[in-house]
Amino acid sequence: MEILPTRKERKTLMKKYKIITYGCLANYSDSERIEKKLKDKGYLASENPDLVIINICSIRQSAVDRAFAQAKKYKKVIVTGCLLDSDRDKFAKYAKIVKKEDCLKTKITHSCLVPIMTGCNNFCSYCVVPYTRGREYSRPQEEVIKETKSFIKNGAKEIWLLGQNVNSYKYDFPKLLKNINSIPGDFWIRFLSSHPKDMSRELIKSVKELPKVTEYINLAVQSGDNEILKKMNRKYTIEEYKKLALKIKKEIPNVCLSTDVIVGFPGETKNAFKNTLKLFKEIEFDMAYISKYSPRPGTLASKMDNQISFEEKTKRYNELNDLLKKISLKRNKQLVGQNTRVLINKNSIGKTREYKTIKVEGASDNSFVDVEITKALIWGLEGKIK
Ligand code: SAM
Ligand code: SF4
Ligand code: F3S
Repeated sequence: MEILPTRKERKTLMKKYKIITYGCLANYSDSERIEKKLKDKGYLASENPDLVIINICSIRQSAVDRAFAQAKKYKKVIVTGCLLDSDRDKFAKYAKIVKKEDCLKTKITHSCLVPIMTGCNNFCSYCVVPYTRGREYSRPQEEVIKETKSFIKNGAKEIWLLGQNVNSYKYDFPKLLKNINSIPGDFWIRFLSSHPKDMSRELIKSVKELPKVTEYINLAVQSGDNEILKKMNRKYTIEEYKKLALKIKKEIPNVCLSTDVIVGFPGETKNAFKNTLKLFKEIEFDMAYISKYSPRPGTLASKMDNQISFEEKTKRYNELNDLLKKISLKRNKQLVGQNTRVLINKNSIGKTREYKTIKVEGASDNSFVDVEITKALIWGLEGKIK
């Protein structure tokens, strides 16, 4: 006899969802947590959804525009995430807006995103995060450790500890790293981001000494010019930044240092931009996330004089990107012949401890493999299983 679905089951069968995420890992972490909740309620992932959730990012206007185009496309849309008050009405015409719950529970994959803090108190003059995510809030150590332990028990191989500035974690970030490092199991610990003004000696020591903490540090510089840094309210000088970056490189052998940088900040003269190029040549970053300055409503920088034209920003972006490509290739070439451990994600592509992308033919998904690096590319490496 065929058993027909009950009314309740039929209703459940109809519920199909799609989540569209923009922005940083913090937003991806929130999306995973939202997805878990939907699945628990019987929703099914689908490309032909009844309900679309758009988790938006307001860091640059381009991200807001892309999210808006998506919101208009679907019938039933919920918008959540980092939304500026000034964009609420625009989205409200097409979507229901809900505030996201930070720090919910997440699903298990081999790479787990664990927010340890959210929000920001720094108020860099160009940035919306203090407005969209509010002031800093740190999760208690016990909660973070408990969640991490359950991920590891369920097979996680990589734990990302996330925060806008992990060094402002209220309950001692190096101690948290030490505690997570001592959880038994074969896994890596990564973290993002660290503000240069708060980068402590203890943290450098932790990366150097704790075996599960990987040698990847993102240290956003934003500009190579002191006058611009001051206008950005970054609270460090370029001399201080350089000293710190060189110390990290000296203390942690093989470290991969990446940075975030903005080109075309208001008042950035040709000379100021040259100072950014100079910094890149001196520090030789392995990777850099370059952004063209995007004026954000409500921020101090959006009201500053001497806004730079889009064409000039694009020119500076291209020039810096070309330099980065040369440096990145040079740094990658230095790694050829070395042996390394790789965590494969899927399709034979994975990451080294230093977060370099590497292709390893024949490696299985979600696994650690020992590899010899055979080839250097601009944005990554190739290797063979040892
Ligand atoms: N808290 C991190 C820090 O200060 O190191 C940065 C996090 S922010 C979400 C990511 C990056 O977006 C920044 O480092 C910055 O380079 C870029 N960004 C932020 N506001 C921007 C703006 N208005 N225009 C262009 N890029 C921006
Ligand atoms: Fe934005 Fe980072 Fe500055 Fe906070 S520290 S305001 S998140 S750029
Ligand atoms: Fe991240 Fe964008 Fe919000 S970068 S914190 S999702 S504004």
